[in-house]
Amino acid sequence: MESKPIIIRHIGQLLTMSGPGPNDAFACISHAALVVEKGLVVWAGADSGLPSQYQGIEIDGGGALVTPGLVDAHTHLIYAGHRAHEVRMRAQGRSYLEILQAGGGILSTVEKTRGASDQELLAATRKRLNHGLLSGTTTFEIKSGYDLTVDGELRLLRLINQLREEGPWRVIPTALAAHAVPPEFFGRPADYLRHLEREYLPKISPLAEVVDIFCEPGVFSLDDSRHYLQAAQARGLQVKLHVDELADGKGAWLAAAIGAQSADHCALTSGEAYGAMARAGVAAVILPGTARYLDHGHMANARAMLDHGGWVAIASDGNPGSSPTDSLGQLLPWAASWLKLTPEEVWTGVTRGGAQALRILQAGRLVAGAPADFILWDAEHYAYPTYYYGSNLVREVYVGGRRVAANRPEVI
Ligand code: NIG
Ligand code: FE
Repeated sequence: MESKPIIIRHIGQLLTMSGPGPNDAFACISHAALVVEKGLVVWAGADSGLPSQYQGIEIDGGGALVTPGLVDAHTHLIYAGHRAHEVRMRAQGRSYLEILQAGGGILSTVEKTRGASDQELLAATRKRLNHGLLSGTTTFEIKSGYDLTVDGELRLLRLINQLREEGPWRVIPTALAAHAVPPEFFGRPADYLRHLEREYLPKISPLAEVVDIFCEPGVFSLDDSRHYLQAAQARGLQVKLHVDELADGKGAWLAAAIGAQSADHCALTSGEAYGAMARAGVAAVILPGTARYLDHGHMANARAMLDHGGWVAIASDGNPGSSPTDSLGQLLPWAASWLKLTPEEVWTGVTRGGAQALRILQAGRLVAGAPADFILWDAEHYAYPTYYYGSNLVREVYVGGRRVAANRPEVI
């Protein structure tokens, strides 16, 4: 960590994202400067107004766009192997749930993950985190969920924590043993959840503070999900849910009723359910890449959530099946296009919205006291990264005031 302040000068546009609520969080300063000390932002404002008291290492921003590091509030980045063979299965017309119910999908990744060593899992996940970081993500939520045994799920949480300590990325672990029904409990989802309530929930803290479940018709029912999540809450854990990904299973209503941190996917959630979520302070974590990748014809109604005054996070869902990516930064144009959001709304979703969904309220903005996690983009205007697709526009990545990654695209 630098002891002298770092002063980034001549920033073309600085997104501070300092507004109060979901619909006015976006804030931009043109011709800006940013001062960082001991890992935190200490000052952000117009370059011409930089107080003379700040003496330190000056960096020339060269007119670049500077934004908060992206906060990816929903990933499944710890797993072994891949599922590239499912491309052919989907081309032949087999659906995501058909592949899962035939023992493929999530369960084929479970088999590979159970068989992988700690070192293999760490190396594979580290590689994904590096890719994500180079695409602008500085905070990754990472869910367990590809082992589906108590000991194996706790191992995944320990490995996620190990990666968190390694850095330079920031990591928030989530306990998702209720990701699918494991082969040992086929046809008995409620029994599996009761088993987790007895043997797994008591061991989650301090490895994770939040419990998640795939609440979806055909996987874990609404009633079983409620029972499981309330058991988690009774142990002082926070909860969140995968809901309404493939059908409107009313999971968003459950999220609102039990005060979840977020309801994620929401591809088929109704306008009324978004209203209930917004009133209950439940964030909608929207995963446009997944809905498009599965091509089921439904896209979450982010606009309804914003109209109800609720927080919308846009996340990658990075996983080996329904959203094979690690790079939220690559999704910005698609989030704008598919969700019909403005550039301001997309930036809010991948910064403040993500932070809100993860309840790390200081993150996702660049104001005095916030962590100095920021990105220098090869862009003059903040609309550009929400418009231009397929090339990595990230120039430099800072976490805690330290430059941790840089792209130097050049032909050799
Ligand atoms: O969020 N829906 C459940 N979990 C993931 C998919 C995981 C997988 O297919 O491996 C999701 O889409
Ligand atoms: Fe997911």
